[in-house]
Amino acid sequence: MSRWTISNVSEIIELFKKRGDSEYGGEDVTQLQHALQTAQLAEKENSTAELVVAALLHDFGHLLHDLPDDAPDLGVDDFHETAAESSLSSLFPLAVTEPIKLHVQAKRFLCSTDRSYNSKLSEASITSLELQGGRMSVEELMEFKSHTHWRDAIRLRIWDDLAKDPELETPLLDYYIDFLERASL
Ligand SMILES: [Fe+2]
Repeated sequence: MSRWTISNVSEIIELFKKRGDSEYGGEDVTQLQHALQTAQLAEKENSTAELVVAALLHDFGHLLHDLPDDAPDLGVDDFHETAAESSLSSLFPLAVTEPIKLHVQAKRFLCSTDRSYNSKLSEASITSLELQGGRMSVEELMEFKSHTHWRDAIRLRIWDDLAKDPELETPLLDYYIDFLERASL
């Protein structure tokens, strides 16, 4: 796991430009396409700048390590959500970092509470679910709901699952610089 600390917006842009063309684990889109599509879905639902940025950066942790793209298929959890949270927490408020930290747990939450959600998961997502702990217990569900931004994490998760379309057009990364600046501390 990386101990990289991000201290300004240009470092984020640079890292996406350097590493964003890597494959988004087992799907037909790159990390950058996936990030842009997730952010676009957030913006379409009139989210705050903080939540659009959380959507854009929810998988930022994948850019911070050198594990192979198919790490989950190999049985390795890269803990990308906590890597992203710790690297971004000096630049962004909890409204950004908490949904990012919780987006993996949000999948477990949805799998435990929404039967139809299970049937929509991609194969890669089912594989990683087991690695991430499978369904939540009652205690885990309560713990999840004790976080201030748990509802944003659920919304983010739903956009995350939809943002895997290789043909979809989105704004370019630079379009989100303004959101990143507005959401930063
Ligand atoms: Fe994602």
